[in-house]
Amino acid sequence: MLFPISTETRRCTSLDGIWDFSLLEIADSYDPSLPLKNGLPMPVPSAYNDIYEGREFRNHVGSVVYERTIDLPAPEPGRCLILHFGSVAHSASVWWNGKLLGSHKGGFLPFEWDVTGLIMPGTNRITVIADNIVDHTTLPCGTVQNRSYPGLAPKRVNLPNFDFFNYSGILRPVKLLDLPKTRIETISVSGTQDGSFRYEIKTTEECECEVEIKEKDHVLWKGTGAAGNGWIDGILPWSPEHPALYDLRVTLSGADGSRDICTEPFGFRSIEIRDGSLCLNGEKLYLKGFGKHEDTPVLGRALSEAYNVKDLALMKWMGANSFRTSHYPYSEEMLRLCDRMGILVIDEAPAVGMHTTFTATGMRIDVKDATWDTLKTQEHHKDVLKSMIARDQNHPCVIMWSVANEPASEEKGAYDYFEPLFRLVRETDSQRRPVTFVTHGEATVETCEVAPLCDVLVLNRYYGWYSEEGDLTAAKALLSDELDRYHQRYPDKPIMLGEFGADAVAGLHDSTPQMFSEEYQRDLIEAYCSVLDQKMYICGEHVWNFADFATAESVKRVQGNKKGVFTRERKPKLAAWFLRSRWKQND
Ligand code: GCU
Repeated sequence: MLFPISTETRRCTSLDGIWDFSLLEIADSYDPSLPLKNGLPMPVPSAYNDIYEGREFRNHVGSVVYERTIDLPAPEPGRCLILHFGSVAHSASVWWNGKLLGSHKGGFLPFEWDVTGLIMPGTNRITVIADNIVDHTTLPCGTVQNRSYPGLAPKRVNLPNFDFFNYSGILRPVKLLDLPKTRIETISVSGTQDGSFRYEIKTTEECECEVEIKEKDHVLWKGTGAAGNGWIDGILPWSPEHPALYDLRVTLSGADGSRDICTEPFGFRSIEIRDGSLCLNGEKLYLKGFGKHEDTPVLGRALSEAYNVKDLALMKWMGANSFRTSHYPYSEEMLRLCDRMGILVIDEAPAVGMHTTFTATGMRIDVKDATWDTLKTQEHHKDVLKSMIARDQNHPCVIMWSVANEPASEEKGAYDYFEPLFRLVRETDSQRRPVTFVTHGEATVETCEVAPLCDVLVLNRYYGWYSEEGDLTAAKALLSDELDRYHQRYPDKPIMLGEFGADAVAGLHDSTPQMFSEEYQRDLIEAYCSVLDQKMYICGEHVWNFADFATAESVKRVQGNKKGVFTRERKPKLAAWFLRSRWKQND
């Protein structure tokens, strides 16, 4: 699916702004064929949870409805009108003038419908019902419980089995695309650091395609055909230091005389595993950066271009070169920014919480069912992986795919669940990027069934926090020993830490550092880095987390997760200054 943007032949109208909104309860008899009454003003994009006061908004479980109108002329002959959503969490059903267009499952990837035949000249009404339930059939996973309390009506609760707030709603831009009926549907393009490239174009019908590769206004290569390859001398390889971008410009000429023009940015870069090392453009690569979240005040998980630029600028300020899209695909806008600013990305599927007895905050829940007998997610997981790769494959910043975060890879059945998924990613990604998943501390060298499938081993470890609390000497000993045992077992696989860190409440200080102080957070991160510096097989260090972020309420969360090295408002803690001094010195 192409990124929705205007070109000489395409018009892209934003439908962002203030929509009418209402919470929906199960008992409500709301009828989407009729206009919504008494809706509240709701910004789109935004998560609705933090916009109005009251737990009925913040902790709403189930469906909500959004509605807006737009005045339109009758569609012109030979044109198609497409309604495009960047994402709606976690599922959406959409109506146009009261007629159901369809439903989409999954809260982090785009979807669209052709509405050409439904457009009425004049006022048109768009209705969206979004639902935030997470359970054993969704990604991410959660648990729905019906609880009863003395004297109260039965209550449905939805426990997210992941450590980030279950923000929901229309989280990314909504657009109305006015396109030629005969048009380009998808473009796949990639280049390697030696200047070779290949492309493939899919169109709505057999057409003549003219293709150019341009550097700004300078045409470097010309060709024709829906697929092709070639070589260009003198290109500048894409890298974090020199994020050189080129344009593949496609001009399609339809038999009916119509034209469609699209331009797809791309870069010339290679990412591979060579002699046990992760290599970018043939050079050994060390990933310095973070696990992140799409999480900001007021907006919740919704797109904020301002925070995206701010976050990447802070990463550059620190000398970081990468992050993981923990724990779901981020917006296309963020990936386009990473292409432009030179930040490497591990692109992660929204497969988190895939563990029936281990919760994100380490608290065990009294569920005894075996994970891989309980979760019914594999087919949806395949769909999500295919959609994520289709959306993100052209970005030079995307250097690795993460199939899941902290699934029960130590439990029987994990290999049978994940082997088809790893195979699917490798068959789908024409660039054959490294594929991994991220393990939690209870998936050990001896018990993890999925590690053999990985190109790179990515470990989340919290010695000194969730275990050996306060004891950084023991934490270093345990970390060093486990890393060596993983390396002995898998000598050809580079290993990185996907997460390590500690909560620090900004402003809490200690002369003898205690947990939750800024000094302890810095000391823990410094201790882990001192261990990593002794290991030649380590290919990266991603600190958890870039910034403080919202979570469900629990005794282990102080108004959210405070493992950020920046506060949620992006103010640095002591740990940020330590990492800046560490990462800038290696620049
Ligand atoms: C886990 C998990 C994160 C979580 C973190 C923590 O490793 O991957 O989503 O936030 O631990 O407990 O802080």
